[in-house]
Amino acid sequence: MANVYASSVFKPGIFQSKVVFCTGGAGTICRRQTEALVSLGANAAILGRKKEVTEKAAAEIQSLRKGSKVIGISADVRDLKSLQDAVALSVKELGRIDFVICGAAGNFIADFRHLSANAFKTVVDIDLIGSFNTVKAASSELIKNKGSVIFVSATLHYYGVQFQSHVGAAKAGIDALSNALAVELGPFGVRFNCIAPGPIDGTEGLARLLPDGAREQAIKAVPLQRLGSINDIADATVFLFSDAASFITGTVSVVDGGAWQTGQMQALAYPDTVLNSDKLWNKMKKAKL
Ligand code: COA
Repeated sequence: MANVYASSVFKPGIFQSKVVFCTGGAGTICRRQTEALVSLGANAAILGRKKEVTEKAAAEIQSLRKGSKVIGISADVRDLKSLQDAVALSVKELGRIDFVICGAAGNFIADFRHLSANAFKTVVDIDLIGSFNTVKAASSELIKNKGSVIFVSATLHYYGVQFQSHVGAAKAGIDALSNALAVELGPFGVRFNCIAPGPIDGTEGLARLLPDGAREQAIKAVPLQRLGSINDIADATVFLFSDAASFITGTVSVVDGGAWQTGQMQALAYPDTVLNSDKLWNKMKKAKL
């Protein structure tokens, strides 16, 4: 049967005996990243704040390949201790950790005038500090196994994107963290790379970013004339963790069909959006977005 989780160009079993530790692993993008790795031979631990959701997703991912083992662990990436416990449990249950995906993220649309200081800090805490904590907790396993890390970044900080100052700032920090760790832990054999997804169909993030009825317009703004799929991100993940990428570290793979190059996606309806942000804010509050 064709592998629907990763492109058929990848050889079955390439990740046999490898273990991936993925924060945000029950979410749309990170779940598909994990599914692709598991379908190609890996075992996995996925982490999320909601215990039941995470355990259910783990059981479903495990069912994809006979003989695989996938565990769901509830943890908050803002809490280093909960990550250290999760690493210990993963090593106990799965034997080791080779790959880490720092995918846990928080996002919402908020213009600067309405964004509270605590809201800004919350996103930086989850995305940036959470990524640091994840690598910190897994570092001895990564060094022992000459492992590899992928941070899920974004393209929001390549230029100014309205209503995303908190996320852009956090993701810029993630890129900087990845570069520095690539240099510091490269001599220990550990690789660090970022994947920056563009507009990916079916994700919460895109649903929030796209104004009502702007889908067709958004597709036209992508040079490759389509939205991305979660499999596009999974394929980049498989490549970066595979031996084919063994000399690649300290990079950002932008997987966006060229979208950020045109800048038009984020400029949709600008500047009316900014000038009418009181109205937008009230609408989102009502819709609880
Ligand atoms: N718009 C503006 N501010 C928001 C917000 C929104 N949609 N959601 C949360 N905030 C603010 C809160 O008002 C609070 O600030 P305040 O104390 O000044 O009022 C601050 O952010 C923290 O919110 P809280 O809900 O206490 O934090 P949390 O740790 O429970 O959850 C998120 C933070 C980001 C995970 C949560 O907002 C959320 O569930 N977001 C949507 C889901 C999501 O992000 N999924 C990931 C997809 S990438």
